[in-house]
Amino acid sequence: MKIFLDTADINEIKSLCKTGLIDGVTTNPSLILKSGKDFLDTIDKICKIIDGPVSAEVTQVDFDKMLKEAKILSSISEKVAVKVPLTEQGLNVCYELSKKNIMVNVTLCFSSSQAILVAKAGAKFISPFWGRLDDISQNGQILISEIIQIYKNYNFKTEVLVASIRNPQQVVESAKLGSDIVTIPTKVFNQLYKHPLTDSGLEI
Ligand code: G3P
Repeated sequence: MKIFLDTADINEIKSLCKTGLIDGVTTNPSLILKSGKDFLDTIDKICKIIDGPVSAEVTQVDFDKMLKEAKILSSISEKVAVKVPLTEQGLNVCYELSKKNIMVNVTLCFSSSQAILVAKAGAKFISPFWGRLDDISQNGQILISEIIQIYKNYNFKTEVLVASIRNPQQVVESAKLGSDIVTIPTKVFNQLYKHPLTDSGLEI
């Protein structure tokens, strides 16, 4: 299973990429806003640091505008996976870009029926949101497991990129289910190292 970092913080990305444990980065407009940096410049900088896919999300919702924005984002680097929302317009953009071999990450997936359409539209990645489903008392884990099963049944090539990860246990469960990728915030990545018995075993 690949591990992506779910952050737009250049310093965090720089230092964690040195570990050799990070396979890609996902960003979204709110993460970049939080960093206080310029959007396109941030994506460009991240692409220069990481040797793997970098998801950059469109902000437009109409087909023409979204496609135009997507082309600007994908022109930054071949590493850019254009992130589009799971709407009818988003899937139309996904289909257009995928035909041109541009990587697309379809985001905000909350149902298996949506996931079927994403694979049919030729997306490189689908991002089902585990944490946000759990937040509203639904079951994110069931969604991930259904998508993996459906994609296996039909040998769909779209990679399952589990997003909205809140804790290390969701990372482990994603791995047990056979997810292709998890994207995790830096805080959760650092928690993956931790075990109290490891710490106490070091005490003299
Ligand atoms: O990359 C988007 C996704 O991971 C968001 O997570 O915690 O805002 O639901 P969260």
